[in-house]
Amino acid sequence: MADYDKYYETEDLFGAPYPELIEFFEQYVPKGKLIDLGCGQGRNAISLARLGYKITGIDISKVGIDQMNSISEKEGLNITGLTGDIYSFDNYQDFDIVLLDSMFHFEQRDKKRETVLISKIAKQIKKEGLICICIQDTGDKVSILKNTIKNSGIAFEVLNDSSLIYEYEDKASGHKSETKYCIYIVKKINDAKIH
Ligand SMILES: C[S@@+](CC[C@H](N)C(=O)[O-])C[C@H]1O[C@@H](n2cnc3c(N)ncnc32)[C@H](O)[C@@H]1O
Repeated sequence: MADYDKYYETEDLFGAPYPELIEFFEQYVPKGKLIDLGCGQGRNAISLARLGYKITGIDISKVGIDQMNSISEKEGLNITGLTGDIYSFDNYQDFDIVLLDSMFHFEQRDKKRETVLISKIAKQIKKEGLICICIQDTGDKVSILKNTIKNSGIAFEVLNDSSLIYEYEDKASGHKSETKYCIYIVKKINDAKIH
């Protein structure tokens, strides 16, 4: 059983998508193929599919994937939900957009594999493809993210670098908290390595 299964079984854990994220993708064209890595219960995948994106969502939580697939089937959305480990995925060149929301924390024990994954996506994604990362803006997380993309040696243009306040309510205790988030979206402008 995956860590998040028990939470997803009883509630819509993370609530609505960030309006700022949806606004960006609403105005963005073309509405291409998007992979949502660690899509959870599909809060972003479902909203983006409703906008016309062709979505693949991967998560280790079968409960989350089943919930997302069930909504997708009911609404006739273009979502393929797969249960699996995002660190084993390897075909980013097949997508126009790679989205990761709340997937990186850069704790000491995970930092290496997380930055290696970002570099792999940066290398594999096609020219003109987007990488969209939503990350808590606490400590040095945002600067580690930006440096990792910069140090990938691939040329990217920054399309969005904005802040938002995410309000989370723990429904069991009623406790509410606010966290500053960064939405960082870059577009690959060249396949060649920069020196
Ligand atoms: C903090 S939640 C974010 C969920 C979703 N991105 C969102 O913003 O609503 C982290 C998610 O990543 C998934 N996850 C963690 N490690 C994973 C891995 N190695 N492969 C696939 N999914 C993973 C968890 O099951 C969980 O659904």
